[in-house]
Amino acid sequence: MLIKNPGDIASSEITPESVYLDRRRFMRGTGTLALGSLLAACGESGTAHATAPAAPDIKGKPLEFNPVAANADNPFYTAEAKTPYGDVTQYNNFYEFGTGKDDPARYAKNLTTSPWQVEVDGEVDKPGRYNLEDILAKNPLEERIYRLRCVEAWSMVIPWVGFPLGKMLQQFEPRSSARYVKFETLVRPKEMRGQRSFSSTIDWPYEEGLRMDEAMHPLAFMATGLYGHEIPKQNGAPLRLVVPWKYGFKSIKSIVRISFTEKQPRTSWEQIAPHEYGFYANVNPEVDHPRWSQASERRLPSSLFAPNRIDTQMFNGYGDQVASLYSGMDLARHY
Ligand code: MTE
Repeated sequence: MLIKNPGDIASSEITPESVYLDRRRFMRGTGTLALGSLLAACGESGTAHATAPAAPDIKGKPLEFNPVAANADNPFYTAEAKTPYGDVTQYNNFYEFGTGKDDPARYAKNLTTSPWQVEVDGEVDKPGRYNLEDILAKNPLEERIYRLRCVEAWSMVIPWVGFPLGKMLQQFEPRSSARYVKFETLVRPKEMRGQRSFSSTIDWPYEEGLRMDEAMHPLAFMATGLYGHEIPKQNGAPLRLVVPWKYGFKSIKSIVRISFTEKQPRTSWEQIAPHEYGFYANVNPEVDHPRWSQASERRLPSSLFAPNRIDTQMFNGYGDQVASLYSGMDLARHY
């Protein structure tokens, strides 16, 4: 983020428009799961928009989940065109694997994500080391189709699979003294080449945080999948946060620690460049980044000749749901 201006991002870094298969139609019941993956592998007819070169097939284990209700009033859904799977999984920010947009897809493959545990500590009545399986057993999966707006002024629409963050946090029984929640990503330099880099600007682990009321908001989500399948490693397997009304850097990947705190936690980007990246990081077209405008964004897929530039919406279009969290706050000061 700090390293590249959006204007410096070469169009060649952007994956060409890929085949889009609306797999969701095939995931509605367990009986159709196998059929869904088989059809994808065979180049399913009917909903496929075939382009050349062929896009990568959807990878990972198909998941069982409750599909999102496709109705315009549902805040967990948008009818906007989904960003093709190939772009979602090949144009990434995951500095643990490098700063190039294609580094995560190239280098995250060998990350060991099983077994996976999450340490829970701080102002909480049920601290401990939780196995991912135990967390998943208590949190049935559902689908959310959200916009993701990066602070670098590009955006996507992603069909996530996961569960509400607030529901999981309640299971750890936070105390009333818990005013914030902090998240940390795995540190494993042997498998994360960006953490071995001498030029890295980040003091690992990558850290993020939310105010408790933000974390408990129904839109805040823990993703374990996308496009109906297990989440790819480059997108933050096996467990990543999704906070759709905030800039993408709040949506921390591959989480191994959750701490409940009384004080506002330190976050990675705020620590690196506090005048550029704030704790709140709410999407706001009226508050520019010091080095570029936030008034509009490139919706992927985009290219030099079809930039697909659209206006940025306040709170990324989720204002009706979240604006009240910030009433009375000066959002230019608390950026
Ligand atoms: N989480 C970790 N651990 N490391 C990162 O570098 N990048 C963030 C966020 N989460 C990042 C991270 C940024 S800047 C963005 S825009 C989103 O992940 C990108 O998510 P995506 O690659 O799945 O689109």
